Amino acid sequence: MAPNIVEAEHLVKKYGDRAAVDDVSFTIADGEIFGLLGPNGAGKSTTISMLTGLFPPTKGTARVGGHDVVKASKQVKQIIGVVPQELALYPTLSGRENVLFFGEMFGMGGKKLRTRADEVLDYVAMSDRAGDPVSSFSGGMKRRINLAVGLINDPRILFLDEPTVGVDPQSRNHIFESVQRLNRERGMSILYTTHYMEEAERLCDRVGVIDQGRIIALDTPRRLIDMLGGGIVQIGLPAADEDLRAAVLAQPAVKKADYLTVDGTREPGDDGGIRTVLKVETEHANTALLQILQLFNQKDVTVLSMEILEPNLETVFLHLTGKSLRD
Ligand SMILES: Nc1ncnc2c1ncn2[C@@H]1O[C@H](COP(=O)(O)OP(=O)(O)OP(=O)(O)O)[C@@H](O)[C@H]1O
Ligand SMILES: [Mg+2]
Repeated sequence: MAPNIVEAEHLVKKYGDRAAVDDVSFTIADGEIFGLLGPNGAGKSTTISMLTGLFPPTKGTARVGGHDVVKASKQVKQIIGVVPQELALYPTLSGRENVLFFGEMFGMGGKKLRTRADEVLDYVAMSDRAGDPVSSFSGGMKRRINLAVGLINDPRILFLDEPTVGVDPQSRNHIFESVQRLNRERGMSILYTTHYMEEAERLCDRVGVIDQGRIIALDTPRRLIDMLGGGIVQIGLPAADEDLRAAVLAQPAVKKADYLTVDGTREPGDDGGIRTVLKVETEHANTALLQILQLFNQKDVTVLSMEILEPNLETVFLHLTGKSLRD
């Protein structure tokens, strides 16, 4: 087995009494693309900040490349690349000048730095525009320059904090391809945070689902999704009727049925009020739906809404937390 490039053990970060990160442990194998998937405020950036030595954990320890992130932060900084959530670039400097500037901060210089700068600009497909001032770039292009900056010291592991938020589809594809190439061609390990489940699903070898400072599930995307089995059906009803729930649960293709109280969704035409929703875990969504509809027909039940949740990481999150990934 490949050694671990990251080992986080029981990380805690408190702000006052509140824990932004609350006992987080995980490992990233050398050469792995590891995703942290979670909604706003889940603790993704805070976790990255501790792993990259921006501030120490309140409790717990972490090693990156075998170095303790607090006691050996200098050694850690040498082998990591960080692409922060907030852009950190000088708008009046050109793309290339920004990359060179940050390279100098790593103690690089001369021909080696210039060659490396050209290489990373090529990696993010920004060679042709690299001479233009950053202020003239689109949001997505700025992100790509930010990524180039993160790569300047040829890191063993790259921390990418929500690199695709507010990015146009073209830049998003470039970012995706860069990440995949870096991993494949250079064996670079990646920690990638996102609240887009499609990204985590497509890119990551393993995903830690994080919510309210805790990792609530951690596995390959496939296994996380398989955990849901045959999919979930959600049925909006006028009231929570216990006999009805029992009757649904008795259907052969139904594994579990529970009432949820959820805020009205943002669907067009929805009044936004509180709804009663029967959440049904099934062996097979379509079969279960047929059985349930037949039952409702017999019992003359009014159905307000009905949806089949395709098994994906979004549904996994909903299943684990009872809420949606996006707000
Ligand atoms: N400097 C701070 N002082 C107090 N609370 C903070 C501070 N920084 C972060 N927090 C809180 O810690 C929690 C985790 O924040 P964090 O930025 O790590 O979340 P995140 O998962 O990166 O979210 P997002 O997707 O919005 O970037 C949030 O509740 C946030 O309000
Ligand atoms: Mg964040």
